[in-house]
Amino acid sequence: MLLQRVKPLARILAEGADSDQGLKRSLGPWALTAMGIGAIIGTGIFVLTGVASATRAGPSLTISFIVAGVVSALAALCYAEVSSKVPISGSAYTYAYATVGEFLAWIVGWGLVLEYALGAATVSVGWSGYLTYILHTLHLWDVPQVWQHNHWDATPGIANLPAAFIVLVITALLVRGTRESGTVNAVIVAIKVAIVLFFIAIGIGHIDPANYHLPPGPSTGAGGFFPFGWSGMLGGAAFIFFAYIGFDAVSTTAEEAKNPGKDLPFGIITSLVICTILYIIVVAILNGMVPFDKLNVSFPVAFAVNHVGLAWAGVVISFGAIAGLTTVLLVMMFGQTRVFYAMSRDGLIPSAFTKLHPAWRTPYLSQIFFGVVIAAAGAFFPISILGSVTNLGTLIAFVLVAISVPILRKRHPDFKGSFQLPFGPYLIPILSAASALGLIYFLREGNPLVWGFFPLVWLVGLIWLTIGLIFYFSYGHRKSTVALEEAERLAIVQPRVN
Ligand code: ALA
Repeated sequence: MLLQRVKPLARILAEGADSDQGLKRSLGPWALTAMGIGAIIGTGIFVLTGVASATRAGPSLTISFIVAGVVSALAALCYAEVSSKVPISGSAYTYAYATVGEFLAWIVGWGLVLEYALGAATVSVGWSGYLTYILHTLHLWDVPQVWQHNHWDATPGIANLPAAFIVLVITALLVRGTRESGTVNAVIVAIKVAIVLFFIAIGIGHIDPANYHLPPGPSTGAGGFFPFGWSGMLGGAAFIFFAYIGFDAVSTTAEEAKNPGKDLPFGIITSLVICTILYIIVVAILNGMVPFDKLNVSFPVAFAVNHVGLAWAGVVISFGAIAGLTTVLLVMMFGQTRVFYAMSRDGLIPSAFTKLHPAWRTPYLSQIFFGVVIAAAGAFFPISILGSVTNLGTLIAFVLVAISVPILRKRHPDFKGSFQLPFGPYLIPILSAASALGLIYFLREGNPLVWGFFPLVWLVGLIWLTIGLIFYFSYGHRKSTVALEEAERLAIVQPRVN
């Protein structure tokens, strides 16, 4: 049966030990938390809050952040239990393979391409927004509009060249094998958090309560705190869910954690809690400083301080945002090739994705392939579509990780991780899966419709899924190493009939 082809946990653990390559177990609980914060804070808060306020939620975006934070926290709890029981470097793909089987693991891995590759494209567009803002404000260079925007933007252009540029630079770094060192990561995380605190400190004195209750109008909808109603607020939550993506990156460091069973759950949950608190404060201040309908820009945080006359602060924030977004890009583009590496090692995709550079020992072909794809996506597609599709892929992975919690408990009662969900194996996973499905539903808000009724983001998801299924059944299903080994084993034990 399709769902029975499970990769034995013992084998996954053995492969984990193999690929250890002497990685030092140097990360403690706070280093893991810092890593989580480094992966989480990025385009979501620095960029998407603008579009989300202006076109979806208005001032109620603060509530949207609480809703998306709760959905993420439920998923984080599920990730925490699974990662404490399967403490190996990997991702939702590996967890799924060990629990819900190859077919659903394939869907998770295929969905993670949307999370990592399109997520990186989304971040690159945000990076470009802040770079062009700095260049303009410091009177260094006005990047021509046609090279800042794609064809679909409100101000149409040809291609977003700075976005493609940063992706290609990072591809080169990753091909060469630059792994962020712990210290560099810690410094950049500190800069990011400092910038967020800096914004809070200067913004709090410039709140105009009238901005929370604007009068109705063509650009302000029904006005008030919920200008586009509850559905607008929930559409905002589905969109800025992007801001929380990344806590799962902590689980990819399992083999470098000192005490993975205990420290991974701690790192995942603590980084999420810290970011949620910061986000809620930032968004409340942002919407208090600027009338929400003016926020439809790609650098809203810098825009807000500029709006109240503090242009210098806008430049400081932009430098911090650029540094922070660069590390998110590194994490996502690194993560993408490592997920494909695992899938290729399992035989589900061609072996080119495991091919390592002879000198640098990086999966260079895969890195270059994704570099080109991500650069093109960032150059030619609008941020709101890229972000929405990223969310869709991630939410699908969340649903499957939630489902894998009770299955893991049932199939492997002997695996006692250090973290077990409270209230039994069903309540939190069901709430997690249901709330993730709810956000998938509300992704439709504010996104273009095709044929007048079908949200484009769902259509892209369906097309992606269909391609994935065709690929799986025509390739991976037959070439899977788990299946081949199984067939070999059966051939040996089968009595010969002559
Ligand atoms: N959460 C990350 C960001 O907002 C992906 O950039």
